[in-house]
Amino acid sequence: MPKVVETQSMLLQVLILVFFVLSASVKNGNAGITSTFIRSEWPSNDIPLDHEVFAVPKGHNAPQQVHITQGDYNGKAVIISWVTPDEPGTSKVQYGVSKKNYDFTAEGAVRNYTFYNYTSGYIHQCLVDGLEYDTKYYYKIGNGDSYREFWFQTPPKINPDTPYKFGIIGDLGQTYNSLATLEHYMQSGAQAVLFVGDLAYADRYMYNDVGIRWDTWGRFVERSAAYQPWMWSVGNHEIEYMPYLGEVIPFKSYLNRYPTPHLASKSSSPLWYAIRRASAHIIVLSSYSPFVKYTPEWEWLQEELERVDREKTPWLIVLMHVPIYNSNEAHFMEGESMRAVFEEWFVHYKVDVIFAGHVHAYERSYRISNIHYNVSGGDCYPAADESAPVYITVGDGGNQEGLAERFRDPQPDYSAFREASYGHSTLEIKNRTHALYHWNRNDDGKKVPTDAFVLHNQYWGSNLRRRKLKKHHLRSVVGRVSSF
Ligand SMILES: *[C@@H]1O[C@H](CO)[C@@H](O)[C@H](O)[C@H]1NC(C)=O
Ligand SMILES: *[C@@H]1O[C@H](CO)[C@@H](O)[C@H](O)[C@H]1NC(C)=O
Ligand SMILES: *[C@@H]1O[C@H](CO)[C@@H](O)[C@H](O)[C@H]1NC(C)=O
Ligand SMILES: *[C@@H]1O[C@H](CO)[C@@H](O)[C@H](O)[C@H]1NC(C)=O
Ligand SMILES: [Fe+2]
Repeated sequence: MPKVVETQSMLLQVLILVFFVLSASVKNGNAGITSTFIRSEWPSNDIPLDHEVFAVPKGHNAPQQVHITQGDYNGKAVIISWVTPDEPGTSKVQYGVSKKNYDFTAEGAVRNYTFYNYTSGYIHQCLVDGLEYDTKYYYKIGNGDSYREFWFQTPPKINPDTPYKFGIIGDLGQTYNSLATLEHYMQSGAQAVLFVGDLAYADRYMYNDVGIRWDTWGRFVERSAAYQPWMWSVGNHEIEYMPYLGEVIPFKSYLNRYPTPHLASKSSSPLWYAIRRASAHIIVLSSYSPFVKYTPEWEWLQEELERVDREKTPWLIVLMHVPIYNSNEAHFMEGESMRAVFEEWFVHYKVDVIFAGHVHAYERSYRISNIHYNVSGGDCYPAADESAPVYITVGDGGNQEGLAERFRDPQPDYSAFREASYGHSTLEIKNRTHALYHWNRNDDGKKVPTDAFVLHNQYWGSNLRRRKLKKHHLRSVVGRVSSF
C-alpha cells in the first residue's frame, strides 16, 4: 500500500474511532438527538395579496375557497364548503362517479358573518352522504358559466388491515415557507390531512384584513383541500378574542368557515369530535375549550374512548394543538394542564400516537408517561412506559411568526428527536401491526425525508394479541386450504 494512502486510511480509522467514542458518550448522557441542521429559509412574511397562489377564480360569483372534510363517523360522507363572493347563488352540489356525469344532487345551506367592518362572502356548506367506499367521485358547484369541478376519493371501508396514508400539517399560515410545505405535502401521496391547528394566522391582522386573510388562506389550501379531506382542529390563532375590535366570540371565523362532523361522534361542539377512516380511529381535541373533569369535552372523551374498537380500527390517533411533551423554550409547560387531566387515559387506552402543533419546530418523544404523581407522593418524573403514546409536534408548517429555534438544554431523556425546520409528516399505515412514519423537512425548496421510524401498533403489538393474530391467520389459511 503506498505511503499516502496508508496514512489516509489510518486517519480514517482514527476518525471512525473518534466518531464511535463520541456517539457512545452522547448515548450515555442523552438518548435523543438535537439536529444541528442549518436550514435556509425564506423570510417569514405572508405572501402578498395579489400573488397568484391567492388568485380569485374567473367568472361572476365563481365558487372559491373550496374544501372538503369527512362528513360522518365512518367515511361514507363528505362536507363540501365554498364561498361565493358576490351573491348567495346555489348551495347545490352535483356529483357522480364518472367525469361530467353528475347523476346525484345534494342541497346545502348558505351563511355569512361579519367581523368588525368585514363582511364575509356567502359561505356554502353541503353534506354529501350515502357514498360508496373506495370510490372516486366528481363534483360540480356554482351557477351558470361560473361552475367549477373537482373530485375526491372515498376511503376504503373500516377494516383492521386496510393500508392508508395520512399527512400531518400544523401551524401552516400563508408565507412562502407555508407554500413549500403545502407543495411538498402534495407530492407525498397521502390521502387525507390531519391538521393540528393554527390555520390562516389572520388574527395577526387588524380590521377587515382579518377576514381578507381568512379568504386568501381558503384560496391557498384549495389546491389540496378541494380534492381530499382535511380533518380540522383548533389552535390559539383561531380564538380571535379581539375586544379592541369589538369581537369577543371565540372561534367566530373558524366556526363559520370550517365545519366538522361532530354530531356523528355524539359531540356537542364542532371543536372536538372523532372519525374513523380505513383502519384508524382519530380523536380531535380542543386545547382551548374547557376540558377538566365534568366539562362537556371531558365527558365526551371518556365516552368516545369507550367506543374505540381496536379489533376494527387498530390505530388510535389523537390530535390536539398544544403538545403535552415539548422541550422547546417556546410554549414550554403549556400542555401541563391537559396532561394532568388526560394523560392517564391516553396510557390506559394505549393511544398509538398523539400529534400536536403550536411549537414552530419538530419534536418526537419516546414512549413515556408521567402518571404516578399525586400531591402526597414525590414520583413526578416522566418514565419509560410501553403503554404510552408517542408524542409528535409538527407545528412547523411555516407561518409568519417564524421558527422556534431555542430548545432547552440538556435535551430531556424522553425527547427522541428535535429540529427547528419547516416541514410536514406522513403516517403510512400498512396493516394492523405496522405503520411507517416520516417527517419531511423543507430544505432549499426540496423535500427531504428526515426523521423516520416504524410505528408498532400498541394494541396488536402485545404478545397475547400477536399469538391471537397468528392463530387467526392460521385459521384463515386452514380455511382456505380446506375449502379446496
Ligand atoms: C348576509 O346576506 C344577506 C343576504 O344577502 C344580507 O341581507 C345580510 O345582511 C348578510 N348578513 C351579514 C351578517 O352580513
Ligand atoms: C375598516 O376599518 C379600517 C380602520 O378604521 C379602515 O382602514 C378600513 O378601510 C375599513 N374597511 C372597510 C371595508 O370599511
Ligand atoms: C400517592 O403516592 C404515594 C407515593 O407513590 C403513595 O404511597 C400513595 O399511596 C399515593 N396516594 C394516593 C392517594 O394515591
Ligand atoms: C404488516 O406490515 C409489515 C410492514 O410492511 C410487514 O412486515 C408485516 O409482515 C405485515 N404483517 C401482516 C400480518 O401482514
Ligand atoms: Fe399555536
